[in-house]
Amino acid sequence: MIIGRCGDYESVSIFAADLVGRAISKKPHGVFGFATGSTPEGLYKLLVARYQHGEISFDQMTTINLDEYVGLPPGHEQSYAAFMQQHLFGQVNIRPESIHFPEAGPDPSEFDEFIRNAGGIDLQILGIGANGHIGFNEPGSSFHSRTRVVSLAESTIRDNARFFDSPDDVPREAVTMGIRTIMNARKIVLLASGAGKADAVARCLRGPQTEEVPGSCLQAHPNVTVILDHAAASKLNDKN
Ligand code: PGA
Repeated sequence: MIIGRCGDYESVSIFAADLVGRAISKKPHGVFGFATGSTPEGLYKLLVARYQHGEISFDQMTTINLDEYVGLPPGHEQSYAAFMQQHLFGQVNIRPESIHFPEAGPDPSEFDEFIRNAGGIDLQILGIGANGHIGFNEPGSSFHSRTRVVSLAESTIRDNARFFDSPDDVPREAVTMGIRTIMNARKIVLLASGAGKADAVARCLRGPQTEEVPGSCLQAHPNVTVILDHAAASKLNDKN
């Protein structure tokens, strides 16, 4: 595992954009896994700028998103499809048919099959929840889990209430790639910023590997780069 330590959120975004931009240039027809949330917004802004400057192109890639709320009306502004459209997909030359989100149909795990048939995820971007979740794999999620519908943890509902008019409006369920689905990605890039993530980062990277801390599975992945700002790294208690 490589841990990149940056001073602040902006440097995290630049570090991540360099890494992801290089991966896109190297394999423009690759399969790229995107995440939503506040953390990757800066990264997406920089990727859009690089596209506008002609440095990278999205027209050959396949994209896979980590998760989506269940129960929001199509096109709802807080849906993750709308988020991606606003922050990245709507601003670059991505082909609409190459955009894929997990779906809460009769068998959500068909998404895993789809990913496999697409060649597997080359690079998966991840954020992390304050409770250690990755995607919407909340504490207690099996390390063997595949794409499925899950109930959101109370802490996640509270954390995400900031995007809705009231906590009551936050969906209670989501469909998420499973831990195993994520772990099958060839490369994982995890971003975290701010003191609110420091505990989760320390537990995921340095604590025991346990399903109570979903992100701790990443310790077993052969190719992970973690990009942290000073505050998010503040509880790691080491120098590497
Ligand atoms: P955030 O969410 O980027 O909005 O902090 C991350 C997550 O919950 O995975």
